Amino acid sequence: TGSESHIFFVFGASGDLAKKKIYPTLWWLYRDGFIPEGTHFIGYARSQITTEKIFENAAKYMKVKDNEHDLYEKFVKLNSYVAGSYDKDEDFKHLTNEANQISNQESAHRLFYLALPPSVYGSVSELISKHCRPKSPGWMRLIVEKPFGKDLESSNKLSEHLNKFYTEEEIYRIDHYLGKEMVQNIIVLRFSNQILSRVWNRDSIAAVNIIFKEDIGTQGRGGYFDEFGIIRDVIQNHLMQILSIVAMEKPRSTKGEDIRDEKVKVLRCIAPIKPEDVVIGQYTGDKNSKDPERQQGYLDDKGVPKDSTTPTFAQVVIFINNERWAGVPFILRAGKALNEKKAEIRIQFRSTPGGMFDDDNHGSDPNGKLARDELVIRVQPNEAIYLKLNTKRPGEMGFSIEETELDLTYGNRYKGVKLPDAYERLILDVFMGSKINFVRSDELEQAWRIVDPILEEIDKKKIPVIPYTFGSNGLNEAFDAARKHGYIFRGTYVWKDERSS
Ligand code: BG6
Repeated sequence: TGSESHIFFVFGASGDLAKKKIYPTLWWLYRDGFIPEGTHFIGYARSQITTEKIFENAAKYMKVKDNEHDLYEKFVKLNSYVAGSYDKDEDFKHLTNEANQISNQESAHRLFYLALPPSVYGSVSELISKHCRPKSPGWMRLIVEKPFGKDLESSNKLSEHLNKFYTEEEIYRIDHYLGKEMVQNIIVLRFSNQILSRVWNRDSIAAVNIIFKEDIGTQGRGGYFDEFGIIRDVIQNHLMQILSIVAMEKPRSTKGEDIRDEKVKVLRCIAPIKPEDVVIGQYTGDKNSKDPERQQGYLDDKGVPKDSTTPTFAQVVIFINNERWAGVPFILRAGKALNEKKAEIRIQFRSTPGGMFDDDNHGSDPNGKLARDELVIRVQPNEAIYLKLNTKRPGEMGFSIEETELDLTYGNRYKGVKLPDAYERLILDVFMGSKINFVRSDELEQAWRIVDPILEEIDKKKIPVIPYTFGSNGLNEAFDAARKHGYIFRGTYVWKDERSS
């Protein structure tokens, strides 16, 4: 019916990402009524397999509920599979013929998800553009996901290649952190609350911490990981994206281009990170653990060379040279195989000046100093926003002070509200043509520029890799560096990470 129908192509349909993330996401979107009427799904890969086989492999990730089986069957019927190479013109012509037949028209809008290894990005993107474009008025959108190169140069090369075959308009670069509820909320928090926007600057803020922790190792993904390391895997993309949203000036509107303009602008104010502002580490097995996984160090991962010095932990300190942020350290820390899984942003305010309370009892602070206020945006798990502040110890006489928090834990305040998965939001955005939550090529280039020199130093083994034990909280060297830059950790306050039920 008209040009309103869509075809969603999954390239790499037989692979891991397709099975674990892309197909389940398409199903959830379909289930929740977000997929436009008349949409078909076509998987493409080299293996001679069938649609049935793909869905069999993906079954355990689909989470189909008992009352959803009929709907699920309907969804599965909208799927087809075409086998072919990633580098032969005929195969892509064949694919387009199949697609025309399946959707019964040549002008259906086409979305292409490349769930592929980077080695075939080049040829696949070229051949899709040459042979698989819909007839007018149908549009096409290309969804790509990291790795976008390994460094500034290779990333720019890939961008140039894509630019030969696609307009920037047609390219959707996924950074799945931009699909997370709390990351999307930063813009609303910052720009809709006067009480925050007034203090969001170097006059009030002492340091910003952006933290990513995982309690698992590379788990057999070592082969991929070893070529990249934690800075390319998490910091250059996910944490740098968060940083740009935390630090950008107020965009003119909520339009994608206005927001992305501001993100690029603030990234351009950042000098490349200096080697002395980097701490890196690699995890070793915990011989005392009863958990066999934790006994394995990074070098025990089958895909990892025995003499690898690839970091699985890194902390970098970034400075933004503009009027709002000059001198404020942004401390980005990411690590695998630590004690917990957690991602959060900590905005630490400056110490309260004027010693009015100096003689009073301030909890367990050995220096008798007041604790600093801190705004914590907890991205995951258990989404929350809390503001740490000082209060009079309830019920006590005099001015005994204790640390507490204003607490907006989503699981308590928004009981029963379902937060969609990041991929669900992002794929829906692509259907809608919304660019807010995708990475523009100039953002990507800036993010690489900032980490490029330290990656080179690390690859040349010029920065020492400090071993840490699986399950540790972090590296003391990193905490010391954060303290040196003015972030104060007192350890006197413990956030109770629990929902009331
Ligand atoms: C990916 C990284 O981009 O993000 C992985 O490649 C990491 O190494 C993952 O585990 C974390 O994503 P999430 O959504 O689980 O925090």
